[in-house]
Amino acid sequence: MLTHEIGRSEFGKAENSGTILSHEEAYGLLNDWVKNDRLKLHMRQVAHLMKSWAKEMEHLNEKEQLKWELAGLLHDADWDQYPAEHCKRIIEELEKRNVDPEVIHAIASHGPRYFGVEPVTKMDKMLYAFDELSGLVHAYSLMRPNGYEGLELKGVIKRFKEKTFAANVSRDDIRDACERAGIALEELIKFIIQHQVGS
Ligand SMILES: [Fe+2]
Repeated sequence: MLTHEIGRSEFGKAENSGTILSHEEAYGLLNDWVKNDRLKLHMRQVAHLMKSWAKEMEHLNEKEQLKWELAGLLHDADWDQYPAEHCKRIIEELEKRNVDPEVIHAIASHGPRYFGVEPVTKMDKMLYAFDELSGLVHAYSLMRPNGYEGLELKGVIKRFKEKTFAANVSRDDIRDACERAGIALEELIKFIIQHQVGS
């Protein structure tokens, strides 16, 4: 069942290609819309992973890296105050602000099972892939005495296989996202361990 079906697959306007929000605007929106500190951290974590992947793995230029970062930073912006309208509300806001359609599409497709929008570009697929898996790694860090310090792949894999651990994190979605992105689960976990910011 599509719980948050968006009902369209075209977002933004082509003429806005290349337009993103400034750092101040993006963080202003984040702070206005999101009051939950855990959610804010999650969004900053995903933003950092997206930017790092764009730079290190895709070798994209700085402008493209900022697009990936923005998609990560705002993908859950409406979840805190408008959960029933997730993620239509943030899509409409970014359309109003003339944001690059690729950024909006990535946000719209970060949960195909819920929103009914298929991830197409690598940016779309990586946002989908990082979203849930980074949450699982973070949950694991919180139960370790030293947090992210010394956190290893094998520990994450063990938790991944434990269905009761972070039970709300969909393992099926993570496997689906890895498959679509063409990246092994282990590789993605390693990248998250190396790049995820803990606070
Ligand atoms: Fe998320």
